[in-house]
Amino acid sequence: MCGIIGCVGREDTLDTLVHGLSKLEYRGYDSAGVALSEAGDDEADGSAESEGSLDVVKCAGKIDDLRTALEGRETSGPVGVGHTRWSTHGPPTDANAHPHVDCTGQVAVVHNGIIENYQALRDELSTAGHEFRSDTDTEVVPHLVEAGLREGLDMEEAVREAIARLEGSYAIAVVVAGEETVFAARNDSPLVLGVDDDATYLASDVPAFRDFTDRVVYLADGEFARLDAAGWTVTDAAGEVVDKDVETVDWDPEETGKSGYDHFMLKEIHEQPRALRQCLRGRVDELGGAVDIGDLGDLSPTGVQFVAAGTSYHAALYAARLFREAGVPAQAFLASEYATGVPPIGDALVVGVTQSGETADTLSAMREASRRGARTLAVTNTVGSTAAREADHTLYIRAGPEIGVAATKTFASQLAALNLLSLATAESGGRDVVAALRDLPGDVQTLLDDSGAAEVAAEFVDAGAYFFIGRGYHYPVALEGALKMKEITYKHAEGFAAGELKHGPLALVTEDTPVFAVVTGDDELATKTVGNVKEVEARDAPVVAVTDGQSDVERYADHVLELPETHRRAASVLANVQLQLVSYHVANELGRSIDKPRNLAKSVTVE
Ligand code: AGP
Ligand code: GLU
Repeated sequence: MCGIIGCVGREDTLDTLVHGLSKLEYRGYDSAGVALSEAGDDEADGSAESEGSLDVVKCAGKIDDLRTALEGRETSGPVGVGHTRWSTHGPPTDANAHPHVDCTGQVAVVHNGIIENYQALRDELSTAGHEFRSDTDTEVVPHLVEAGLREGLDMEEAVREAIARLEGSYAIAVVVAGEETVFAARNDSPLVLGVDDDATYLASDVPAFRDFTDRVVYLADGEFARLDAAGWTVTDAAGEVVDKDVETVDWDPEETGKSGYDHFMLKEIHEQPRALRQCLRGRVDELGGAVDIGDLGDLSPTGVQFVAAGTSYHAALYAARLFREAGVPAQAFLASEYATGVPPIGDALVVGVTQSGETADTLSAMREASRRGARTLAVTNTVGSTAAREADHTLYIRAGPEIGVAATKTFASQLAALNLLSLATAESGGRDVVAALRDLPGDVQTLLDDSGAAEVAAEFVDAGAYFFIGRGYHYPVALEGALKMKEITYKHAEGFAAGELKHGPLALVTEDTPVFAVVTGDDELATKTVGNVKEVEARDAPVVAVTDGQSDVERYADHVLELPETHRRAASVLANVQLQLVSYHVANELGRSIDKPRNLAKSVTVE
């Protein structure tokens, strides 16, 4: 997991790389570095011996630390690569930061992923006399390339031979002194080219170069890319040129900036009306109530298994309930638990819910499902992601890029998209839900305009722990409320099915533990949840009711966070927005690193 950027053809290579890294910092942020290469004078006469320069600057810390390290240095060259790291092998130190170089300092490599056979390769290379300077798995790659160059191979041949030795997951980009070329390869880790008339970019995600171009080429596993003065080519493992589509990304560069908000998370919370509109646009018939999610084949599943992690798992729990209510057997599984102990699939549809489309646990569960003969569907935000490419079908949630590590708008869009999936494949009727979905962007806006969450957060910023309860569709929201609170405040938080509280967790409830209760409507679920609220209130815990005011929960609450009235399926989305805001404001009061919480990364590409 990390961010890779590369570019060829710009005059301001270093600035372009650092800008790209700052856009990718959410992917990993324990160290960063750049390598720039320049051909020597005799390159023009085609001499393979041409001397050139390779300048590498790297350090532990954030991109700002790299900026400081670069100050006053003459780091130039028309070709370069950069990296922001989320370490898997070795601590975040200067030496372990990427790019890694070979013994001669002539080959520099940035890498995302894990090289599983690195120890055997390292032993072999050490025996052959190579000297290693880092603890990383990555460092074997420049040494393998060096060995190839020493045998007389050219850069491309040497990189191909090196890549052929690797087992594991990687997006790799290589520069060599004297070569004004970036050569890259991918397997199980994202890599995308940005193409423009005069320059070509390479990155693990589009925001890295979106300020410069909107034309992109997604690489597939096993493909190689060559970026040089002539432009770009993509080849397969055999060296055959692959005819790639150049696609246009349809979101604005502005979407990857903070637009005046203090944090990406707050910006993304406020982008939810727009994200929801994008998700629903063209998919719901305003008048007739029909839902059209495009050509997903004849899904009509007889059973559905959802696999996902983290926030996406909470969306999966919600979705499983949607299908069960429609009479289709459905379950949600934590992706990391799916491969073992899951009942036979039969002809069930397996749905991977994954914002990034790159979560290793989820990809692995989807692959396992495919191996067992199941049809797979990816519900993802990321066009061209591994999940999208590998699944039989893809449903995009169209939330736009999400930079904050804590998922916010993508959760709302997942819930909306999963409602569409259920309506399109499993439900008949559903006009009331369609109407509620249509109103949802406006309802979220109403809530955002006057939420009250900041005041509640200020009241409870010193609480010992935070508990969240809900029933039915609000149970996943309770779990999500707690996950958000944990992630960005570093404080203890738990979400419970409201009915489960009395079976043990109630022992934790004290006057120092606010309980957030999501209660909407006035049906049986609401009545029972109000009963659970009374149990809490009787133990002196402060109660925050997140409610549309239809039940009498307010009588037992110390604070109320109001929700517009709507269908209970849409109410979950609204309640979640309130809880996002509470977590955000608590974290802000505590001065936490909200967009990049400690120990976390946006996309977890290891199992
Ligand atoms: C959400 O706030 C977390 N950062 C995390 O739980 C995330 O939802 C999880 O890692 C799954 O990611 P995905 O949706 O990209 O697969
Ligand atoms: N495995 C490599 C390392 O630990 C790459 C990690 C990453 O993807 O950032 O350096």
